[in-house]
Amino acid sequence: MEVRATTEPPLQTGADTVCVGIVEGEGVAHDVADGALGALVESGEASARPRKVAVAHAEGVRWLLVGLGARDGLDAECARVAAAVAEGRARDLGARVLCWEVPHHVDDAFAAGLVEGTLLSAYRFDRFKSDPGDDDRGAESLVLSAHHDVSTPVDAAAVVATAQNAARDLQNTPSNELTPTRLGERARELADDVEGLTVEVDGRDAIVDRAMGAFAAVARGSDEEPALITMRYAPAADATGPVLGLVGKAVTFDTGGISIKPSAKMEEMKFDMSGGAAVLEAVGAIARLGLPVRVVAVIGATENMPSGHAVKPGDIVRARNGTTIEVNNTDAEGRLVLSDCLAWAVEQGAERLVDLATLTGAIVVALGSTHAGLFSNDDAWAGEVEAAAGASGELVWRLPLHAEYAEMIKGRYADIVNTTEARKASSITAAEFLKRFVGDVPWAHVDIAGTAWNLDRPYARKGGAGFGVRLLVDLARRAAAGA
Ligand code: BES
Ligand code: MN
Ligand code: ZN
Repeated sequence: MEVRATTEPPLQTGADTVCVGIVEGEGVAHDVADGALGALVESGEASARPRKVAVAHAEGVRWLLVGLGARDGLDAECARVAAAVAEGRARDLGARVLCWEVPHHVDDAFAAGLVEGTLLSAYRFDRFKSDPGDDDRGAESLVLSAHHDVSTPVDAAAVVATAQNAARDLQNTPSNELTPTRLGERARELADDVEGLTVEVDGRDAIVDRAMGAFAAVARGSDEEPALITMRYAPAADATGPVLGLVGKAVTFDTGGISIKPSAKMEEMKFDMSGGAAVLEAVGAIARLGLPVRVVAVIGATENMPSGHAVKPGDIVRARNGTTIEVNNTDAEGRLVLSDCLAWAVEQGAERLVDLATLTGAIVVALGSTHAGLFSNDDAWAGEVEAAAGASGELVWRLPLHAEYAEMIKGRYADIVNTTEARKASSITAAEFLKRFVGDVPWAHVDIAGTAWNLDRPYARKGGAGFGVRLLVDLARRAAAGA
């Protein structure tokens, strides 16, 4: 969908459908046709109730009156939700050119939220449908009409939402197509396309040569070539702030390996690359936006398969940083991949780290699909991640690390184990495992197992959510500001 901002009034934009927000206790700002819209509010047919939409026809166009709730709740998330609800109705009604009249006295984040909500809601994944059907054809373009120039936040939001939808495409693509190699190609495509972005893709031999014994152990079981994807972004302008290190788990299919998973819902494990997809596309967006921050991103891509050469329970492997690991459960593979990727990111100069990973089923039990789990060794850095989460609507909730949890992953035969004996605090012990590989660098681990797909938001739908793209871009903006 094409997106633009204008200071022209909605009726001069060429839109066939105009969305007008209704705020509690406030009238319609620019009414038309002798108060036709205000009359709908007075009659109760239209109201400020969030997610409510009323339809009217006047002045030759269709009007959607969209409930926004109370004035003090007009934040970016309110905008995303309202825009998604409006997009759904507009689609049903066959709208081709959609215009949002930006409400008075809202900030840039609200205008950005309208763009994000519309683009995310309009997303479809129908590449594999022989006949997608044209009854589900969404709008071709979106115009944001405001009294002042909102083109800067609007254009940026379009870049970010498009990147998020690209991450959803990667997630939704099944593992027979979206292999580690294909993920590496996507990273190369971005580097070819966007100024300041470079990429390096290493295969199995290089992973082994680099003594990444934990990553290599996971990759061993599969005939599919793994990929260690390292992306670097250096802005044209002077960079301020620390070097941001972004790390993503990209297990393109997680069978569990020799500790094989039950077959129910195993197909969902094509989504086990969601952290890597979000990191990859977020870096693309950061570079397209030209944010003044240096980034090094590391994506560990592999399948986790059982086979005659797969790693077996009890095997001991040595990670790149020298730590020895007892692989007691081959289904706890994400931490093995991430351990070497985190250490690699530190070696590549990362001064602040964030990793995104569909790491544990236990985080789904704890937080559902509303918040991702946050774990950190640094309160100030955790605070930045929390602030970015709040602004982006990609919520996180911090859980504790503690010496007692660290004790639980101590090994019997090696330094550490990849799973504990007791099924206790398993999202936390997974985080304690990762912590062993970041040294002194401020680090935040975001466990997105519950939020990566099937998010329960009006602007999401079944399938990949692209969770983390908005969060990471917002965090990069904060890092650029010198966090
Ligand atoms: N990819 C899974 C975690 C997962 C499970 C994500 C369900 C989304 C939905 C991960 O590799 C895994 O298998 N974790 C195990 C760890 C256990 C063996 C310690 C888990 O959470 O059960
Ligand atoms: Mn697993
Ligand atoms: Zn996994």
